[in-house]
Amino acid sequence: MPFLPTSILVTGGAGFIGSNFIHSFIAGNPGCRVSNLDCLTYAGNLKNLTALEGNPDYHFIKGDIGDATLVGKVLAGQRVDAVVHFAAESHVDRSITGPEIFVRTNVLGTQILLEESRKHWLSGAVADFRFLQISTDEVYGSLGDTGYFTEETPLAANSPYSASKAGADLLVRAYHETFGMPTLNTRCSNNYGPYHFPEKLIPLLIHNIINKKPLPVYGDGLNIRDWLHVRDHAVAIETVLKKAKPGSVYNIGGNNEWKNIDIVNLVCDLLDDRLGRARGENRSLTAFVKDRPGHDRRYAIDASRLKADLDWSPAYTFEQGIAETIDWYLANQEWVAEVTSGAYREYYQGQYGGGAV
Ligand code: NAD
Ligand code: TYD
Repeated sequence: MPFLPTSILVTGGAGFIGSNFIHSFIAGNPGCRVSNLDCLTYAGNLKNLTALEGNPDYHFIKGDIGDATLVGKVLAGQRVDAVVHFAAESHVDRSITGPEIFVRTNVLGTQILLEESRKHWLSGAVADFRFLQISTDEVYGSLGDTGYFTEETPLAANSPYSASKAGADLLVRAYHETFGMPTLNTRCSNNYGPYHFPEKLIPLLIHNIINKKPLPVYGDGLNIRDWLHVRDHAVAIETVLKKAKPGSVYNIGGNNEWKNIDIVNLVCDLLDDRLGRARGENRSLTAFVKDRPGHDRRYAIDASRLKADLDWSPAYTFEQGIAETIDWYLANQEWVAEVTSGAYREYYQGQYGGGAV
């Protein structure tokens, strides 16, 4: 019997993946209430959700997951029967220059959300309940040239970001083991797609190419990431929420490994065509810069458990997904201009490679 939620609390729904998830979930689940709790850090943008204004299934609450009173009120007031927890500090580079907020939001924030969820679940206000923790393959550390992360791979996080996500994942596990809470945990590879903040590799490349700015490639550019379209991720999350057994962990991946430098070249060439530039013009913007400290060499996901148990696999080909993503950024330059103003500009001065905007 699938679990069919009637009122979900999405945390961090104004960010990249959360907003894509909300659009996808609302489209497929009319009548299910979606409450979006987000404190709107630099990465949160309500413009990602303007299409939902006036939708009776959706409402936004500006607030912090670390505010236990507020979280408790929302859970009880909305009779929430599922928490889908995206809210986090999510950028590795920022975690190197300022790790504290990562621990506060990702570890302590998750614990507060878990504790309020436990009280709400125990109150008997709802017939059934799920807490879904959205996590990352980065908790597993780094791979050599071969092999894949499975759900049994030991956690070996290397950056303050991934360490804070691993800490949160272990708390989620502890709430299941200790209190019997019906938790779920997904660990996904690198996402790409619309509404991606242009500090992460793919949107940063698109943004800088359009503006003829240098394309900072960390180290030798041979680090490998597995890329998944954010809408495929959204479908996987909904699948796990509805069909997975409480206590389970699922990897989510695109089976789509790329060396960073190959991604750079691909995005350059696709944009040469779209911007009417000579072939090779955009590649000349490439600038090899100092490596990221502790830079994980390779991530690769084995998502076969999700396929075997719940019959999920990605629908997008990378060819289609990357072309659509580039076209989305070209068509949404106003969105980009808004999110790249102010604090973001200041942040990038002196960052690895610098001058990203
Ligand atoms: P993002 O940085 O785009 O968005 C994070 C959102 O959380 C923002 O809207 C922000 O305002 C909100 N937020 C931050 N702190 C908060 C707090 N204390 N209270 C309430 N809201 C808060 O992140 P994203 O890329 O959408 O990632 C979402 C989740 O998915 C994160 O948990 C991340 O670790 C995980 N993840 C991301 C990727 C990826 O490729 N982006 C891959 C795997 C897993
Ligand atoms: P990123 O998008 O920050 O995601 P993550 O570090 O979580 O995988 O980076 C993806 C890869 O691209 C990673 O190997 C670091 C590299 N990178 C660059 O080479 N230059 C850049 O300007 C950025 C942001 C990332």
